[in-house]
Amino acid sequence: MTDHISVSRDGPILRLGFNRPEKKNAITQAMYAALVDGLIEANRDDAIRAVVFEAKGDLFTSGNDIADFMSGAGGPGEGEKPPVIRFLEAIATAEKPLIAAVQGPAVGVGVTMLFHCDLVYASEAATFHTPFVDLALVPEAASSLLLPQIAGHHRAAEMLILGKKIDGPRAREFGFVNEVLAPDALEDAAFGAAHAIAEKAPAAMKLTKKLMKGDRAAVLERMKEEGVHFAAQLQSAEFREAGMAFMQKRKPDFSKLG
Ligand code: COA
Repeated sequence: MTDHISVSRDGPILRLGFNRPEKKNAITQAMYAALVDGLIEANRDDAIRAVVFEAKGDLFTSGNDIADFMSGAGGPGEGEKPPVIRFLEAIATAEKPLIAAVQGPAVGVGVTMLFHCDLVYASEAATFHTPFVDLALVPEAASSLLLPQIAGHHRAAEMLILGKKIDGPRAREFGFVNEVLAPDALEDAAFGAAHAIAEKAPAAMKLTKKLMKGDRAAVLERMKEEGVHFAAQLQSAEFREAGMAFMQKRKPDFSKLG
């Protein structure tokens, strides 16, 4: 159990909130595990008709906890799959509509999780940044497959190859944000959509989402492939340099590597 994910019900809506603002909502293994529990509950409970992801503080999330990356938490271990992997699989295969209310900057998995959501509402304060290569890592959550499909290869390259941070209007142009709203209009938009979904025929809704998402095998396969490279990169000298640079609040120096 962790308090760093808030879980609550608003009638037929399950609310899952990032709640670790002092660390910019960086996501730990315990947080992924709490999100997985919520998503399993949403699949199982007929009374839940939609899930809303939200966050406390100024950032939506700064992505995976980098200290966890450095200590090897979430890497391949004995027995059960690590929570981060279970989370990625759970958002890829969720049966009820997933809605995100992005109130501030989203980094790393905070962005790639949005490619699995059905509706994404962003406040004017939101930005979207996937600096995997800058951290000597590779894209995850099947984002190397999904972002080129959503945005086209060249726009995806701005985010995944250049590591460029984009704002809400640009993300809307890329195709993974539905609306950019004034901060005080965000909650109404996200929960308005969630309640509209909740009033519709539940079986038809689940089938429609399933049909729209199509065969998930390619997505799950890409996650696995990315995971192999991600795990190897975590052991690399270039990642050690990037991780140390983050901890020491300096720019990484890759000039002597490779
Ligand atoms: N993992 C672990 N800790 C993180 C974190 C992360 N992803 N993001 C932020 N934090 C921590 C910082 O280390 C800092 O901790 P401290 O107060 O104990 O020093 C605290 O959260 C506040 O972060 P800070 O960097 O001071 O805030 P900021 O407003 O200046 O910058 C960010 C915010 C998001 C731009 C910056 O924290 C950042 O770049 N984080 C890393 C993002 C990232 O690369 N994520 C992984 C993507 S794969």
